[in-house]
Amino acid sequence: MAPRPTTFSKRRASLITTRLLAWYALHARDLPWRKTRDPYAIWISEMMLQQTQVQTVIAYYERWMRELPTLASLAGAPLGKVLQLWAGLGYYSRARNLHRAAQIIADKHQGRLPTDHGLLLGLPGIGRYSAGAICSIASNQPTPVLDGNVVRVLTRLQGIREDPKPAPVRESLWAMAELLVRQASSASSAASHACGALNQSLMELGATVCIPANPNCAECPLRACCQARRQGLTSQIPYRTPSQPAQRMHLACFLMESQNRFLVRQKGPGEFNAGLWEFPTLEIKTGAVNPAELVRAHFGFLPDQVEKLGLVRHRITCHQIAIQIFRVQGEPPIQASAATWQWLVFPQLAGLAFSGAHRKILALLEGQKSG
Ligand code: ADE
Repeated sequence: MAPRPTTFSKRRASLITTRLLAWYALHARDLPWRKTRDPYAIWISEMMLQQTQVQTVIAYYERWMRELPTLASLAGAPLGKVLQLWAGLGYYSRARNLHRAAQIIADKHQGRLPTDHGLLLGLPGIGRYSAGAICSIASNQPTPVLDGNVVRVLTRLQGIREDPKPAPVRESLWAMAELLVRQASSASSAASHACGALNQSLMELGATVCIPANPNCAECPLRACCQARRQGLTSQIPYRTPSQPAQRMHLACFLMESQNRFLVRQKGPGEFNAGLWEFPTLEIKTGAVNPAELVRAHFGFLPDQVEKLGLVRHRITCHQIAIQIFRVQGEPPIQASAATWQWLVFPQLAGLAFSGAHRKILALLEGQKSG
């Protein structure tokens, strides 16, 4: 394999930066977090945008900024409210970290998100990518960003065929990203916000043009200087480790109803999705289940009516989950022994933070009730 070009010449960095900034000025999508330089708003948007598509994030971001418009409002909000605003975005540790970090900032940084890269890195949930994005977008500092989109753009641009995950390759990609943002900084006035624009142009190009399959090279501002395109290697770069097949998991979920109330449980500290709510759920073997027997054995509930509502499929990281949903009605309610178990009337359920799978289940129940 040819040695990878681990850096840009000054001339190449200048060419790439100029083309990216000109392209971004014309093609940047009109996104709500691009209308502000408020570090708090940019922090929220960047945390939401990790692992989640822009189109999904927009509505979550706008609702969050309406409900918790300032860092002080986030620091003072109950965790349940924060999780409720996050519910559906997945990776709930990000929401818990936002909440904890806001409280630390309220205590130790006079309530203002630090603009210093090193200080940001000390806060829960803020890593090198987020710190780089916040500093460059909110205060035009030449701090690099490297996420999946940026990796794809840079590896194709330089014709890097090696796996980008191991540390030495990754570090050289960080160094390239830094060179570009420094170049943008030195060639532009502070007023042009070139650092934030350059970083976002890399993300934007990766999200809209230099996409994983069938990149739209004809529209790319870097087509004339892209090594992968020149060598016909865009389908092989970046290198991808063959993905492991998702593990299948079978669950049965019970909408246990008594006297118009449904049983729900809040997951405890240390559990997966801690702090979120769910309907009683059991892992089952594949094949037929006896729901009446399961709720009796596991929850001491004697149903006089059992109805199968349907099947919900849900994908998380490496699990493909199939959930059979049963509505079981009976009397009297079993005691909700701990604060984590509650019998709630239907309208109260809408105010809880459910995980993604259980939001789908709630929607199924809603459809049935209104149908
Ligand atoms: N992905 C991560 N950060 C982003 C941003 N600021 N704009 C669009 N997509 C992004």
